[in-house]
This record gives sequence, C-alpha cells and structure tokens, in this order.
Amino acid sequence: MFPGVLVSKKSAEEVRKLLKNKDVLDPNKAPLHEDNYVIFPIKEEKVAEARSLGLRIVYRDFKVKRKIKSYKDLVQIPENLKKYLPTSFDQIGDIVIIKIPEEVLDYASQIGEAIIKAYKSVKSVYLDKGVKGPYRVRDLEHIAGERKTETIYKEYGTRFIVDVSKVYVSPRLAEEHKKFSKYVKPSEIVFDMFSGFGPFSIFAAKKGASAVATDINPYAIHYLYESAKLNRVEDKILGLVSDCRKVARLIKVNHVVMNYPHGSISFLDYALESIKTPGYIHIYVIEYNDKITQTADNIVHLIENKGYKAKLVEISCGKPYAPYQAYYGVHIRIVGD
Ligand SMILES: C[S@@+](CC[C@H](N)C(=O)[O-])C[C@H]1O[C@@H](n2cnc3c(N)ncnc32)[C@H](O)[C@@H]1O
Repeated sequence: MFPGVLVSKKSAEEVRKLLKNKDVLDPNKAPLHEDNYVIFPIKEEKVAEARSLGLRIVYRDFKVKRKIKSYKDLVQIPENLKKYLPTSFDQIGDIVIIKIPEEVLDYASQIGEAIIKAYKSVKSVYLDKGVKGPYRVRDLEHIAGERKTETIYKEYGTRFIVDVSKVYVSPRLAEEHKKFSKYVKPSEIVFDMFSGFGPFSIFAAKKGASAVATDINPYAIHYLYESAKLNRVEDKILGLVSDCRKVARLIKVNHVVMNYPHGSISFLDYALESIKTPGYIHIYVIEYNDKITQTADNIVHLIENKGYKAKLVEISCGKPYAPYQAYYGVHIRIVGD
C-alpha cells in the first residue's frame, strides 16, 4: 500500500496542481477514482507535508505507471526471441514500414500492435517486403492498425501527400532533398529526371525555381501535383508521365537531378543533353563508404570524356543504406564544353 490524498472530484484539479508544485505528487503512480473522489498518489517522504496542507491521507494499491521507452516493452513475444526484434523502422506520416527478421516473422501482427500502442502518432503498420520493379515501389503487407496507405508526410517542415504503396518514399533521403535546394537560385530551371512524388522539384520550387519533373509511374506524377498544391507551387512545376530520356533533348536547364540510385549513371548522356553550361548535375548513388570518392571521380571523368569541363563540388553523405554503404549525392559543376 502506498500513501495518497483523498479529494473530492470538484477540487481535484486544484489539489493536483498544488501537489505538483510542492513536489508532493508521485508521478510514477496513477491516480485512482472512487465514487465522487480522486486519490492522488504522493511520495512516501512527503506524507507529513501533505497532512500539514490539511489534506486527508489514505493508503491504496496504486498502479505503477510504466515508462515505455520502445515498442519492445509492450510486444507479446517469447523472451528468448526478443533479441530478434527490429530496433528501427521508417515512419512516413502516420504509417510505419518495418522490416522483420524471419525469426520473429510469425509475430508480425504483435509487433505492429505494440508499435501502435507505444507511439501515438502511428495509425498503420506495414511489413516491408522490399522495393521492387521499375517504379521502385515497396511491396507491403498490412500487419496492424488502419488499412490505409495514403498519408501526409513532412520533410523539414515541407508537407507532401504520398501513397506508400504506389510511389517510392524514403525518409532516409529527406536530408539530401533539402541539401540539394541550397544549390538552387530563384528563376533557375531544374530537370528532376526520376521525380517520384517530387521532393527535389518541390524544394526547388519553394526557392523560386521552376522544375520539369518526369517519372514513368503515373501515381508519382499524381502525388507530385497533389504535394505541389499543398505547398502552393503547382505553377512552378511541370510534371510529365514520361521516360526522362524522351524529355531530355527538349529542354535546357541549370540543374539536372538524377535520383535513381541503382541506375543513374547509365542516364548521364541524357542529363548532359539538357544541361546549360555552366550548370550542375546532382547524381545520387548507393555506394560503399570507402569507394564513394573513387566513384565520384569516375563520374567526373565520364562527363569529361563526353567533351565537357566538369568539377566535383561536393559529395553529400546521406543516410546509411546497408552495412558500410550509404546514399550519396555527387554534386558536379559542368563548367563548359
Ligand atoms: C528512387 S525513385 C525516386 C525518388 C525520388 N526522386 C525521391 O527522392 O523520393 C526512382 C523513380 O524513378 C522512376 N523511373 C525509373 N525509370 C525511369 C525513367 N526511365 N524515366 C523517368 N522515371 C523513371 C521510378 O518510377 C521511380 O519513381
């Protein structure tokens, strides 16, 4: 039994504030309700002080509040399997996407339920079965919460509408989207070759630039326009459901963004067709940490071999992708031909 003070419901809020201010209230236990009374748990060593305030002391079995540090504290799973529980996951708006190791895959729905219970901002949880196909869309299986895949997602205060089952979305790229925009000046033109839902284009448009965005996935262009409207920059962006190679020769731009990490380099010729000189190519790759400098130099040489003068300006290091590998942004200034 622990000490508490019995107060009428009417004066409960006033007394709670008083107990809190005087550091008498025990924050680790939950108050109890009995008929028209509330019983606030108080610290054992503060009983005399509470009494001196004219409050009535009673003893009860208060429930101890558990501090939840992680969903792992709530998940219903045999103790010996807890070591396999994932320590991280991606949250996109109110949707969580999680990879679950085989050893605990049978407990996927318990893991999902625990995530929803532990984190108030999460409404749905999906099992991540990997990014697939030319659209680079995630194969998802619903494991807990609401069956919805559309959400509003924020990157550095900029809001996007996305459907995580229809377009590629990776919060790990948020930093790269933002870093890119520091290169862009008002009234410049950007060619976002592999736009997805358009984060590079929208960040550029918010800086006052215009963007031509291409994607072969029609849903990507749909969510690009929805997100552009949300940010009131739809008049700055032309989104086309098209292979970027068909558009490259039709436009001349100050910046080309190539975010197709597994294949960007093979599209370099098309990027060069559309670049004004001087201008920038921002190319994103997934690379081993000890190989990225060499890869960046190779890209510069490839460009120079096409007859352009090129200078490596920055390698921006994004988020880890796999052990020893990360997303990298290689920012190259094309000086002239
Ligand atoms: C890595 S995702 C895009 C990511 C997006 N830029 C972002 O940062 O979130 C690559 C995108 O390229 C698109 N894609 C693939 N091949 C393409 C092509 N030849 N032309 C235009 N888009 C293409 C895919 O549909 C996919 O949406």
